Amino acid sequence: MYICKFHARGVNLKLAFPFLLTTFLCRVVLAPVTRERSYGNVPQPHAILYYSQRTSKGGFLITEATGVSDTAQGYAHTPGIWTEEQVEAWKPIVDAVHDKGGVFFCQIWHVGRVSHYDYQPNGQAPISSSNKALTPQLKSNELDVAEFSPPRPLATDEIPIIVNDFRLAARNAIEAGFDGVELHGAHGYLLDQFMKYSVNDRTEHYGGTLENRCRFPLEVVDAVTKEIGPDKVGNKAITFGAHAEAEDCDPEALGLYMAEALNKYSILYAHYVEPRIVKSEGQAETNHSLLPMRTAFKGNFISTGGHTKETGNKAIVEGSADLIAYGRQFMANPDLPKRFELNAPLNKYNRGTFYTPDPVISYTDYPFL
Ligand SMILES: Cc1cc2nc3c(=O)[nH]c(=O)nc-3n(C[C@H](O)[C@H](O)[C@H](O)COP(=O)(O)O)c2cc1C
Repeated sequence: MYICKFHARGVNLKLAFPFLLTTFLCRVVLAPVTRERSYGNVPQPHAILYYSQRTSKGGFLITEATGVSDTAQGYAHTPGIWTEEQVEAWKPIVDAVHDKGGVFFCQIWHVGRVSHYDYQPNGQAPISSSNKALTPQLKSNELDVAEFSPPRPLATDEIPIIVNDFRLAARNAIEAGFDGVELHGAHGYLLDQFMKYSVNDRTEHYGGTLENRCRFPLEVVDAVTKEIGPDKVGNKAITFGAHAEAEDCDPEALGLYMAEALNKYSILYAHYVEPRIVKSEGQAETNHSLLPMRTAFKGNFISTGGHTKETGNKAIVEGSADLIAYGRQFMANPDLPKRFELNAPLNKYNRGTFYTPDPVISYTDYPFL
């Protein structure tokens, strides 16, 4: 996946990602992958090894989703970045990635209704765009079922409070040493719950039309770019997906609207999930493609979802993406770029241990070549 070709885009890759100009051009990104090993929502020292194992000189890494506030959590042991303790705990992890020449963005999220009273302060109801409850979902180990508590819709005058939480989390990420943040606008979490027609049933100016449904996510983009600078901001979206029952009636229009709206903020990159990824696992046949969004967006474009080395290379050569983010394969192959370079066989990922809290097993013990 080392391709000696730049694409003439509105934002020049050479300027935006100077680290690409190392001895080879690395287009393999570590996708954000939740691992549920941050006990008490505090990143742990074992993450130093995990992330540094996956760092190569000039490589671009995105952290697992990281909570912006104490209402942002919906899973056990996911990290946060809203307290001083969390910021301090991220610092040695970021340093380890930088020491190996990597570029590291922190993905920040709020899960919204994908939560339970047990994860909320004082056992309160999770927040969302609506009061529509999420039905229980089978977990990735295909044994356990996750239950969700009925959410309460955010009042209009509460929305600026959540926007501010994202702003402060971005500030904290820079304080922790990260090179930037990625806004998690995908997979049915809070920003997606506002964007998607199936969840957002609001009647004021945050609901109804496409423009209204995208208002809150774009207010977050606005606040975060003003706080830390647009060259330090990326945005992840999954307009075609139906994760956590967040689905749109016109996903292509949504994807295009967001791509064009993001141009106004000149953010560093847009990260889109391929239309073949409909739910968390498996892939579907589709006639849709990310090309219209890639064409509309003027910055760097990251594609993720079900890529092999071959499909990733094809996307880069055809110009349908600038970078490819690999999730499951990078999780199981700490030296994935090297393996791609050498055409070496890949370790298989173990789905049953994606989210087990062990600090070593299926975390830092996947073998190198
Ligand atoms: C165990 C697991 C955890 C994930 N956690 C996140 C996450 O925290 N944030 C996010 O944006 N995507 C998350 N994803 C999605 C990945 O970033 C990626 O988009 C997806 O796995 C598709 O890429 P792949 O086919 O290369 O795995 C997760 C995926 C897996 C398998």
